[in-house]
Order: sequence, then C-alpha cells, then structure tokens
Amino acid sequence: HSEMHGRDLLDFSDYSSEELTSLLELAVVLKEAQKTGFTHHVLAGKTLAMVFEKASTRTRVSFEVGMVQLGGHALFMQSGSTQMGRGEPISDTASVLARYVDGIMIRTFAHATVQELAKYASVPVINGLTDEHHPCQLLADALTILEHKGTLEGVTVAYVGDGNNMAHSWLQIAPKLGMNIRIASPTGYLPDQQIVEQAKRVAVANHTELLITTDPLRAVDGADVITTDVWASMGDESEAEERKLLFQDYQINESLTGLANKDYLFLHCLPAHRGEEVTADVIDGPHSVVFDEAENRLHTQKAVLSALMAETDAFGEGLA
Ligand code: CP
Ligand code: NVA
Repeated sequence: HSEMHGRDLLDFSDYSSEELTSLLELAVVLKEAQKTGFTHHVLAGKTLAMVFEKASTRTRVSFEVGMVQLGGHALFMQSGSTQMGRGEPISDTASVLARYVDGIMIRTFAHATVQELAKYASVPVINGLTDEHHPCQLLADALTILEHKGTLEGVTVAYVGDGNNMAHSWLQIAPKLGMNIRIASPTGYLPDQQIVEQAKRVAVANHTELLITTDPLRAVDGADVITTDVWASMGDESEAEERKLLFQDYQINESLTGLANKDYLFLHCLPAHRGEEVTADVIDGPHSVVFDEAENRLHTQKAVLSALMAETDAFGEGLA
C-alpha cells in the first residue's frame, strides 16, 4: 500500500482500478482481524481530525471507532464550535491542523473546500462527503456487493434518484471495478455532465455498460443491485416538498423491483425515508443489505486510513 501512503482521498478520479481493488482487499483483511480479535494497531499514536460542517451518524462513528481499532485517536470537530465557524480561512486551518494531526477527514458543502484544505494540509485529507462526492460510502457499497455476489465484475447496478454526490461517486467507481452502472433521475436532476463524460471514457476502456436515463424502468430492468438515496440531500432542505412531487415515479417499490433480477440486492447509504425514495417492504425486506452496508463503512474506512496514514513497516505479519 506504499503507493497510497500520504495521499488524499477527495474523489476517485486519481485512484486506479488496482488501488481501489487493493483497498477492498485490505478492508477484507481488517474486517477479519476485527472479527477474530487480532490486534491491528497500524495507526498506534496517530491522530485523525474529523471536521463536520453537516450532520452525520455513520461517518462520525465509523471513523472514530475505526481509529480506535487501529490503535489511534480521532477528534470530533463541529466547524461551528471552531474558529472556522468564525471565518478563519480554510487554508490557515489546514496549515495548523497538519502541525498536530496525521490526517484530516472533512464533511462539508462545496467540493472546492475539501480541495482547498488538501492543498494547504501536508497530511492526508479524506472526503467524508461533499455536495459532489461521497467516496467513503462507495467503498462500503462495493465491499457489500462483493460479499453478497462474490464478484463485482459484470454486476449491473441501477441507481434511481437524485443525480447527487452518491450518483457521482457511483459513476466514478463502478467502471473502475468492472461494474455496469445505470442512473435514472428526473430531468433537471441528472448527474453532472463532466463526471458522466469522464465515467464514460473509463467505461469504454474497461468494457462496462454506462446508462444515464430519465426512465427508472429502463434502469432497473434485469439489474443485480438497486440503490437510491434521499430526494433532498443536506443543503437541499428548502426544496424538499417540491422534490417529493418531482421524484414520485422514482420511488423504489415492489412494482419497480419486480423488474430486477430475482436475487437483486437493495442498497441505501442511509439515512432513509420510508414511503419516499423507498417503501418499507423493500428496505426492510429480504433483498435489503443496508445494515451490512452501514457496517462496511467501518471496515473500508479503516483500509483507507491504514493505506494513507500508516507507516509502511506498520503492516506486520498476517496483515495485508
Ligand atoms: N451514509 C452516511 O454518510 O451517513 P451519515 O450521514 O450518518 O454519516
Ligand atoms: N446525498 C445525501 C447522502 C447522505 C449520507 C446527502 O448529501 O445528504
């Protein structure tokens, strides 16, 4: 993992198929280590700052618990109770934090904020969600599919809903891992054109399918995985009522899942809104793996933290 040491994880654009695969392999090793009680303190004495400008349950807890399991420590920082909330520049914050900690995880609004932080921080910066990307979630999603399907190669994923951060991270990771990706969103809510074009180039090179459509039926037809996300993301709250009307036909319910493969999986990054983007019978039904998916945030993020932050000689016998 030496090739990833010291790097940032802002999105997947600068991660190769091989690097992403090796992160998933490391996650499998670390998951096994945690389940069997094998001590894996590859980050002993290391500290992660976790900066939050938005709410979080999974990201906050899985990063903090992950750091403890790796023998390190995590600091929870709500930007509003720091000097960032009083206007201290992100560049100064980055320079200062890098003098104390070994890595920074940040959840914020504009992707440019994370890029700015990474530019001035000499330690690895990990994107814990921006308006544009949610890479940590997609590593967990890929591991969950791998565990349940035995492979990622040739798996067809249908993402039905808002062309948001989740859709963008799906577009970035799916073709790199050999998965086919179909995105169905209402007109006006389709994913960013530049991210789509970039993903298309990767899909062509890797011989995977990529479909962007406004038709949810076309997206789920014969799919192996169906996934969705909230209709109004953090920051879009004022549009929630309007979006409920516009997204009605994009609800994941039994009439839609009936078109998928018989053994399809249902994924959702959570938090979910039963009766909006997904019905209770689907998310609480036999095809849903949403809690395995949530658990895998822990294991995949531990892989990221180890690959980016551990000294390369910290990986002892039996670990990676
Ligand atoms: N899926 C996810 O990122 O959850 P949180 O918002 O709870 O961190
Ligand atoms: N798209 C959602 C994901 C939440 C984990 C949001 O940005 O709020």
